[in-house]
Amino acid sequence: MELYEIIQSRESVRDFAETAIEAEKLEIILEAGRLAPSAQNKQCWRFVVLQDKDNIKRFAKHIGLLGTVNFFIAQAPVVIVACADPKRSARVNGQEYYLVDTAISFQQMMLAAWSMGIGSCWLAAFNEKSVRQYLQIPENIRVVGLSPFGYPKEKNSLYSKAVKTFAGSRNRLELDKIITKEKWNLCR
Ligand SMILES: Cc1cc2nc3c(=O)[nH]c(=O)nc-3n(C[C@H](O)[C@H](O)[C@H](O)COP(=O)(O)O)c2cc1C
Repeated sequence: MELYEIIQSRESVRDFAETAIEAEKLEIILEAGRLAPSAQNKQCWRFVVLQDKDNIKRFAKHIGLLGTVNFFIAQAPVVIVACADPKRSARVNGQEYYLVDTAISFQQMMLAAWSMGIGSCWLAAFNEKSVRQYLQIPENIRVVGLSPFGYPKEKNSLYSKAVKTFAGSRNRLELDKIITKEKWNLCR
């Protein structure tokens, strides 16, 4: 697939087939993250990769922010937890860039995955303390996001249909709502 086609067709996947992700494809996904740009090339991101089925199931039970939300990661053959060391990131204009750096890297993984037919879904609804405890992540490391990775099931579950409807997942603001030319000319 061409890059633009990958970007256009990508969608969050919340239903996964049992098919494993081939080792060489997982490596491409991880490599896509490693190659990402970062502020001052600090590469403050760190990733925990879960592939053990039982571990993923136990992890899914431990991360909840709101009860069973995001339980669907339990079916995925791979879960990647995106972390960052804020001390190793750049601070410019009073902004901490560890979130930006890690998000770019993780999104590159997701796009690389989608180019090979592998779905994912950014997740922020997790309890950071529980994730940290479960994975033995040190206190100085922030958990930025996590995502299941796997081949999409042919049919979406009722849950994922409901989330897509609730989140209005296909909706995007029109270009003229988000782009202004030559100077700021948008609503405040
Ligand atoms: C930072 C971030 C956090 C998100 N957290 C969750 C989440 O906790 N649970 C979930 O089901 N989807 C989550 N999503 C997925 C969004 O709901 C989804 O990207 C949005 O509805 C657009 O749909 P699409 O990804 O299918 O284009 C998150 C997305 C992002 C970028």
